Amino acid sequence: MVGFDPVATQAESEPVIRLRDVSKSYGLGRSRTPVLRAVSFAVERGELLALVGQSGSGKSTLLNIVGGLDLPDSGHVEVLGHDLGQISDRALARLRNRDIGFVFQAFHLLDHLTCLGNVMLPAAFSRGQGRAEERAMESLRRVGMADLAGRRPGELSGGQKQRVAIARALFSSPAVLLCDEPTGNLDSKTGREVIELFAEINREDNVTMILVTHERRVSQAATRVLTMRDGELVDNVDVGALEESHGDDSAAAADAADNDGGGEDVHLRARLASHGGPH
Ligand SMILES: Nc1ncnc2c1ncn2[C@@H]1O[C@H](COP(=O)(O)OP(=O)(O)O)[C@@H](O)[C@H]1O
Ligand SMILES: [Mg+2]
Repeated sequence: MVGFDPVATQAESEPVIRLRDVSKSYGLGRSRTPVLRAVSFAVERGELLALVGQSGSGKSTLLNIVGGLDLPDSGHVEVLGHDLGQISDRALARLRNRDIGFVFQAFHLLDHLTCLGNVMLPAAFSRGQGRAEERAMESLRRVGMADLAGRRPGELSGGQKQRVAIARALFSSPAVLLCDEPTGNLDSKTGREVIELFAEINREDNVTMILVTHERRVSQAATRVLTMRDGELVDNVDVGALEESHGDDSAAAADAADNDGGGEDVHLRARLASHGGPH
């Protein structure tokens, strides 16, 4: 099984990710601009959370803070039972290398390595990683790319490249996968296939995911849709609850997923209210 690396320090029932009042600004003096304004939410084990919102609303900043790639100015971030503000540099590096996988819009594959070489790359930075090649092949198999293991990224389509990047993210069997617009460089059909692959990995390997996406059909995969606007969370829609309580209302969740933060969520709230709300 790829994924789900149980973390001894964390109780099963605790959220995998928890943010409390996370704030972040960029710039100095008068040009200082808030990018995240007291953002709080929790992600339970096994959730597939879609994070949507207009360009510039703070999605990437938020994802980077969750992944320990960036620090908030204030607030608390807990991932897999670790307080990222308290944890040692060594423990943080270990968390990032082993327990959290990242997938980006631009793939970030190395052109001079084969697919296999790219997937095995994380093993180069950590000791005691036996069977690296075998495990890399297993990851490639997981994403349907085993047959092309010997090819270089330049010989692949966009969708194939992203599959290899996903295989690389899965290589260390992370408990958490953070994906920043992973379908942003793909055509819509390929994008849907990649979303379906994420949904499958989430379901079958119990990997907790946050997916920043504009993909319209994401609600079919997501358990929850968070919408950001100007650094704030403006909506938190439980897709499962919607589908259970009103069958056909997955359309409302699709609207939420597709909502670019431009007022559509008001429309969504009105629709939810007319059905008695999401809870
Ligand atoms: N390193 C940085 N320095 C200064 N401003 C930044 C930096 N990173 C992001 N920003 C600003 O923060 C805001 C949010 O950016 P980002 O998190 O990338 O949004 P999104 O991913 O939703 O498009 C934008 O206005 C962006 O210009
Ligand atoms: Mg972004």
